[in-house]
Formats: sequence, C-alpha cells, structure tokens
Amino acid sequence: MAEQHRSEREPEPPPATIAPAKPNVALVVERITHQDVPAICALYKKVWDAEKEGLPPELLKTSQPTPLEFTSWMEGVTYFAARRDGRLVGVVGCELGDGSAHLVHLAVDPDVRRQGVASALLSAAADWAKRSNAEELWVDALARFRAAVALFTRLGFAECGHLHKHQWHEDVRLFERML
Ligand SMILES: CC(C)(COP(=O)(O)OP(=O)(O)OC[C@H]1O[C@@H](n2cnc3c(N)ncnc32)[C@H](O)[C@@H]1OP(=O)(O)O)[C@@H](O)C(=O)NCCC(=O)NCCS
Repeated sequence: MAEQHRSEREPEPPPATIAPAKPNVALVVERITHQDVPAICALYKKVWDAEKEGLPPELLKTSQPTPLEFTSWMEGVTYFAARRDGRLVGVVGCELGDGSAHLVHLAVDPDVRRQGVASALLSAAADWAKRSNAEELWVDALARFRAAVALFTRLGFAECGHLHKHQWHEDVRLFERML
C-alpha cells in the first residue's frame, strides 16, 4: 500500500484537489490506494490499446501492467488518480529524486481528453513534489507523443534535452519545470 512506501521525507498526503476542469464538471485528484489498482490497470489498457497503432510492441507491453506489475511500480513512486463522478479517468506517478521529482506513467481516458484532467493531475503532483522539497519537476516523453509534448509546453515546462533512438529505438524529449 502507498502508505507503506512513503519515505520519511515525504509529507502527509495533501487534501483532495478539486480542479475546475471545464465548467460545471468537478474533478477530484488524490493519492491512490491499493483498492484503485484494478481500475488503474484497466485505464492503462484502454489508453494504450487506443494508441497502439505503430507503437513498438515492447512499449505497449510495459505500458499495460498487470495488477501485480503495477503494485511493483508503486515501490518508491507516489501515484495520483483523477476521478470524475467517482470514475477513475486519469493517473500519473511522481518519483522523488535528490531534490527533483520525475513524472511517470501519465495517462488519461480517451473519453475525457482536452478537459483538463492531465493538467489537474500534474498540478497535484507538482504541489506534492514541492511540499516534499523538490525544486524541479521533470518528465520524458517519446517525441512521437504530440499530445504530451503540447501538454508539457502548455503547462510551462521547458524542453531541456533530446535523446536520439533512446527508448525502443524512439527519440525521447526531456522537459523540466522549476517548482
Ligand atoms: C497527453 C495526455 C495525458 C493529455 O491529457 P488531457 O487530459 O487531454 O490534457 P489536458 O486536457 O489537461 O490538456 C491541457 C492542454 O494541453 C494541450 N494539449 C493536450 N492534448 C493535446 C492534443 N492532443 N493536441 C494539442 N494540444 C494538446 C492543450 O494546450 C490543452 O489545453 P486546451 O485543451 O485548452 O487546448 C493524453 O492525451 C494521453 O493520455 N495520451 C496518451 C498517453 C500519453 O501520451 N501519456 C504521456 C506519456 S509521457
């Protein structure tokens, strides 16, 4: 359980974040518990099945964890889930380093894209990272993930690197934002 993996320097979980996504639609972002694992795995399956056209099979496989695999991802990573009307619609992980925080495994249900879900998740992760004494938030994305690149740019991340043929023979772009 996430509680058990919290390191000493991590703060108490923040209160649920209520983000005003689109008008009249409340979105709740909070830290996950073990009870969320099946819904999270179902979300990753849905997201990456929808994106699979042309993607390296290894990427697809590692992006669609089983509940057991996801439980091991939770080691050392704090995950946040976004819910609308109680339904889990997005997830992101945040891994603390020595003074920085790395965003991982961001995914939003294709049915609710462009409604501020990822923005709300990143806002919650950034708040938590800052409270955990991180000074910088960083993220890497395959160059082909245009939506993710647009999202990070929109949220004020600066591009800080480009790794060629780095992961599954794909180019990777690096982004950072000071907290
Ligand atoms: C990338 C992703 C997480 C974005 O989620 P989202 O909830 O739709 O993002 P938001 O609604 O918060 O978008 C905020 C802003 O980012 C930009 N943006 C997001 N998706 C975009 C797209 N497809 N095209 C252009 N700009 C986009 C826009 O500026 C948007 O604001 P706007 O809708 O007012 O124009 C989602 O598309 C996704 O899950 N993609 C597949 C998985 C993935 O690529 N994960 C990231 C791996 S690093």
